[in-house]
Amino acid sequence: MIGFDLTQEQIALQDMAHKFAANEIRPRAAECDRTGEFPTELFGKAFDLGLMTGFIPEDLGGLGLSALDACLIEEELGWGCSGIATSMTANGLALTPILIGGTGDQKKAFVEPFVKTLHYASFCLTEPGAGSDAGGIATTAKRDGADYVLSGRKCFITNGSHASQYTVFASTDRSKGHKGLSVFIVPRSAPGVSAGKKEDKMGQRASDTSDVLFEDVRVSAANRIGAEGDGFKIAMKTLDYARPTVAAMAVGVARAAFELAMQYAKERVQFGVPIAMNQAIHFMLADMAMDIEAARLLTYKGAWLLDQGKRSTKESSFAKAFAADLAMRVTTDAVQIYGGYGYMRDYPVEKLMRDAKLLQIYEGTSQIQRMVIAKEIMMR
Ligand code: CAA
Repeated sequence: MIGFDLTQEQIALQDMAHKFAANEIRPRAAECDRTGEFPTELFGKAFDLGLMTGFIPEDLGGLGLSALDACLIEEELGWGCSGIATSMTANGLALTPILIGGTGDQKKAFVEPFVKTLHYASFCLTEPGAGSDAGGIATTAKRDGADYVLSGRKCFITNGSHASQYTVFASTDRSKGHKGLSVFIVPRSAPGVSAGKKEDKMGQRASDTSDVLFEDVRVSAANRIGAEGDGFKIAMKTLDYARPTVAAMAVGVARAAFELAMQYAKERVQFGVPIAMNQAIHFMLADMAMDIEAARLLTYKGAWLLDQGKRSTKESSFAKAFAADLAMRVTTDAVQIYGGYGYMRDYPVEKLMRDAKLLQIYEGTSQIQRMVIAKEIMMR
């Protein structure tokens, strides 16, 4: 059976996230965009409501929400401000590799503390020379007795300068390429760990994005998640989980732009009538509404497959690519409907357009999603 009705619990979660976005995120969004401030007090309130721990299983103290539940919440947070939402969601990305590949003891040691008090974790995959080519990681982890010694530089790391724990992908055997990658949990307090330059981004400016450096950092072998060589597959499975969430955020950004554009089109009078009376504007608004619905349905399908324990690689990439590209289109058209005012910082739509651009780049560019889809449909 196919049903599109949400349960009462899902409606309540969606409503709670919407109220948080409307009452807490939106009032702070423009200022954080202007200043690049990381709104710590806002994250404290989100944490208290369970909005940052929902993905953690109940036996570790979290809410044990499904992937679909997480997407319902994420759409609302993205509607509020995708920069703030990105930083709110980064713990999920960083801790998922542990939930996928960690032992019971590792989950207790490295995930459970994130339910108790608010702190941040970062997913450290990307490097200056390994962006789309995630298998090309140059950071090394050399075995030394009961420890590993990590050396390398990660870049574009969400919450990198605020994190107390890093999930670090490193090569334990460079001769094996992606099959030589392994994943380690590294505490910020370990000697040799430092956060580098904070990036000055075009959009999503409330989220923190920085370099993280590892200089001869020693961690116990007990901090390795999975076996040596499991790192690449753990990273890919994590991205399968994360991409529908990014898609949901993109739907939220697009919905925000669509609502503003429709409202403005009804109010803005030119040639004696509201511009909404023009068929040219009707068609733009109709396309926006149609594409937003299509992106939302692709997102739900990807999340639903994950909740069934099924492989969702193709559907996660369908959702991520379609929704990110749609968010870019819708926000650009919203600026167009606002005309000259849309280009000015005094009006809200130019921020949405700048924010949307990052959705087409992070967690795999729109082009990488198409590579994943092509491989899935032709070779697997
Ligand atoms: N699940 C399980 N296994 C998978 C998998 C998946 N989804 N995808 C691939 N694999 C396996 C393959 O089966 C293959 O296994 P074998 O070695 O046993 O044959 C292995 O992994 C290698 O797969 P590919 O040959 O497909 O690997 P590739 O080198 O061609 O690269 C890629 C694939 C999809 C392009 C990958 O490199 C990729 O996703 N790149 C983008 C990286 C990315 O998204 N980075 C974002 C960083 S996170 C971020 O942005 C967060 C933030 O802070 C904002």
